[in-house]
Amino acid sequence: MLKTHKCGELREQHVGTRVTLAGWVHRRRDHGGLTFVDLRDRWGVVQVVFNPDGSPEAHQVAADLRPEYVMQITGTVRLRPDTMINPSLSTGEIEVLAEDARILNASRTPVFYINKDENVDESLRLRYRYLDLRRERMQRNIIFRHRVVKFIRDFLSEREFVEIETPILIKSTPEGARDYIVPSRLHPGEFYALPQSPQQLKQLLMVAGFEKYFQIARCFRDEDQRADRQPEFTQLDLEMSFADQEDVIRLAEEMFIALVGDVCDKRIMQIPFPRLTHAEALQRYGSDKPDLRFGLPLVDLSSLVAQSEFRVFQQVLEQGGQVKGLRAPGCAGYSRRQLDDLADVARRHGAQGVIHLALTPEGVKSPVARFLSPREIEGIVAGTGAQSGDLVIIVADQPATAATALGQLRLEFGRRLELVDDDVLAFAWIVEFPLLEWSEEEERYTAVHHPFTAALDEDLPLLETEPHRVRAKAYDIVANGWEIGGGSIRIHQREIQERMFRAIGFTEEEARSQFGHLLEAFEYGAPPHGGIAPGIDRLVMLLAGEPNIREVIAFPKSQSAADLMMGAPSPVSEAQLRDLHLRLDLEE
Ligand code: AMO
Repeated sequence: MLKTHKCGELREQHVGTRVTLAGWVHRRRDHGGLTFVDLRDRWGVVQVVFNPDGSPEAHQVAADLRPEYVMQITGTVRLRPDTMINPSLSTGEIEVLAEDARILNASRTPVFYINKDENVDESLRLRYRYLDLRRERMQRNIIFRHRVVKFIRDFLSEREFVEIETPILIKSTPEGARDYIVPSRLHPGEFYALPQSPQQLKQLLMVAGFEKYFQIARCFRDEDQRADRQPEFTQLDLEMSFADQEDVIRLAEEMFIALVGDVCDKRIMQIPFPRLTHAEALQRYGSDKPDLRFGLPLVDLSSLVAQSEFRVFQQVLEQGGQVKGLRAPGCAGYSRRQLDDLADVARRHGAQGVIHLALTPEGVKSPVARFLSPREIEGIVAGTGAQSGDLVIIVADQPATAATALGQLRLEFGRRLELVDDDVLAFAWIVEFPLLEWSEEEERYTAVHHPFTAALDEDLPLLETEPHRVRAKAYDIVANGWEIGGGSIRIHQREIQERMFRAIGFTEEEARSQFGHLLEAFEYGAPPHGGIAPGIDRLVMLLAGEPNIREVIAFPKSQSAADLMMGAPSPVSEAQLRDLHLRLDLEE
């Protein structure tokens, strides 16, 4: 090695030791004839002193140093004078007196500061990601991610799970998102797809008798980007044979609790993790991934205003809608403008608008007060639990819209009223998802989780008659308003899998051509099985307290799915296209 010690490891105990260090120039300053260089490596920063009297040659080298030059220095560790001790630096009690110095490589002036944590335009960060990753925050995140993944690997290996790699070039099958596809040279006109997840492969590994499988698996989905979405991302993919929902949930919960205890200081809000049915989550929080760090549940006021003379309520209820409310503590004094902002939030999420009632010391004030009877107002106040000084927000709409819009308003109040504690992790399980949902666009039912998910035993008979009422053996793990992972118990019998394909509108022929391999495998002694796949990126983001997953991925794509550093995607040569039997038609 070009170094005997790490910059960041030197302490008082090393005083008197002759060390050779190698790293980057973090900062350089001249002071009273001496040159001070903060030398940085992965383990931290140490101060190196260059004295023209003791080591004139080394001092001469130091004169040429600029930020991010790569250096090797040899010198002796000594205590800093008392007045120079820097308590904010772990090496702050010592310094290295340089005897020899060598520039290993020069650096152009970096396009942004490596030695300061300041806001830099994200596209610049992504374009120069290798510089961005040198910054302390990113080093911390990426190394933290390594610890999370290592913990998971150890945890599952101890429990006899086997890590098995599955292929990246697979068959395109409809799984929910759009596939990334890869043209085949050897099979003109045919394509591989990159896996949206190893779902079918892990099920086939259960048929293959491995019983406990996991993989830190790369997944690919061509979908719109968001803070928690990337076109390629990583799952902890996991599957177990002879396990029911309770077994999968118990294992995953144990793993999350142990992981949090091992890698971070955050506190888990409630153990065992609370469980909500999908229906409850929507009713109470207007979301299937509720942030449970705070209360403010939504209340269904429909029955309280069922006889109302108020046209808005009447119409919505007649059309099968709901009137739902939310209590915002201490917000009775909201200005016109603040109220308009709330209405905007609701409108952005599909609602027509909001109705509000302010509980002032002078009584209830509301633009709609004159349309409501005193009993109705009393009912609304009691129903929402509002007290003097509170604001009640009401959305009247179709149930899904009312829930979503009010759910977003709940989150807005959570932020405004600073009800969210960033040091808390509110994990929860969402269970009893519906198996199917109607797709207006495709005019057929589609699988809410995926088409391999089993129905609750008692609901299976409804599959053909009342498909929308069938609940699934599916579960999501959520935390602080993010969906961290999803899983289910799978169908393992051919006949039931075929019924499921029929329910989502596949002909027998389509089912066989798309999923024949799975249907066939189920005829060879497929064990009952199920699993889950937490997203590693989302999990690390949550535990690291970062606002989006790009901060915990070494080389993420931009919002428009581009690699700004390598410049991908990019055109390919005519010859490559010819090899692949492709001709471009960019007019369309
Ligand atoms: P699902 O599609 O719910 O399930 O995905 C599981 C988890 O993967 C993460 N995730 C993503 N992370 C980043 N970017 C994305 N575009 C993205 N999409 C999903 C989320 C999500 O909860 N095969 C099933 C799992 C199973 O049934 O076992 C599956 O993929 O954290």
